[in-house]
Amino acid sequence: MSTHRPHEHAQHGQHEHAPQLPPDSGDPLANERYWDERYSSRDHLWSGEPNAALREETADLAPGSALDLGCGEGADAIHLAGRGWRVTGVDISGIALARAAEHAAAAGVADRVDWQRHDLAESFPAGRFDLVTTHFLHFMDGTLGPKVLRAAASAVAPGGTLLIEAHAGFPKWEHGHPTDVPFPTPEETVASLALDPAEWEVLRAARHKRVQNHPATGEPTTRTDQTVKARRRPG
Ligand SMILES: C[S@@+](CC[C@H](N)C(=O)[O-])C[C@H]1O[C@@H](n2cnc3c(N)ncnc32)[C@H](O)[C@@H]1O
Repeated sequence: MSTHRPHEHAQHGQHEHAPQLPPDSGDPLANERYWDERYSSRDHLWSGEPNAALREETADLAPGSALDLGCGEGADAIHLAGRGWRVTGVDISGIALARAAEHAAAAGVADRVDWQRHDLAESFPAGRFDLVTTHFLHFMDGTLGPKVLRAAASAVAPGGTLLIEAHAGFPKWEHGHPTDVPFPTPEETVASLALDPAEWEVLRAARHKRVQNHPATGEPTTRTDQTVKARRRPG
């Protein structure tokens, strides 16, 4: 079990109430207005700390070019940039990206991160990358997640790494989430990627527990996330 400080909501002792999901806009969880409203509701939505899984799973990789999909307020991209990576951070929310750019400037890595606004249901950044990573990018439309993740795999350069970190579910005490978000298992995620074994090696497809403090009481609680990590064989 990871004992690292989790990438938890920034503010404690209160429940975040997610805005109404827009009803008529494709996948309502992949919606600019939904995310802009969530980000506008607070000075910062996330802790500002990089995700533990990102730190651990990339620690032994030689820095190169990286793509972070659904980068939010930028903590993971900034962590990678601080380790010498050239990073493209992508998000649907201009509010999140503006904050990410401010944080990158404060961390002295602004020149190593390119922030790009994309709705990944509609467009995808150009290029190939030595690392393509995404943390907690969940969709309600069961076809959209696999579509975005297959595009993510296609963007991995030969010899590069694909890292997908996801929740296995929302804890009961975390309020404000839509109730019908699908959570594919690691095995289902790997299957939906349809990676050619001649070209890819799956390094990890597993659930893991991590400790997160209860937002109201501060008590440590355990939740389950999952990691899919694959390496594209050198060309
Ligand atoms: C749960 S947050 C995770 C943020 C960040 N990866 C982290 O771990 O702190 C999901 C992020 O995905 C972004 N997102 C959701 N749908 C998207 C889409 N269709 N295209 C691009 N980004 C999207 C949201 O704006 C949000 O910042």
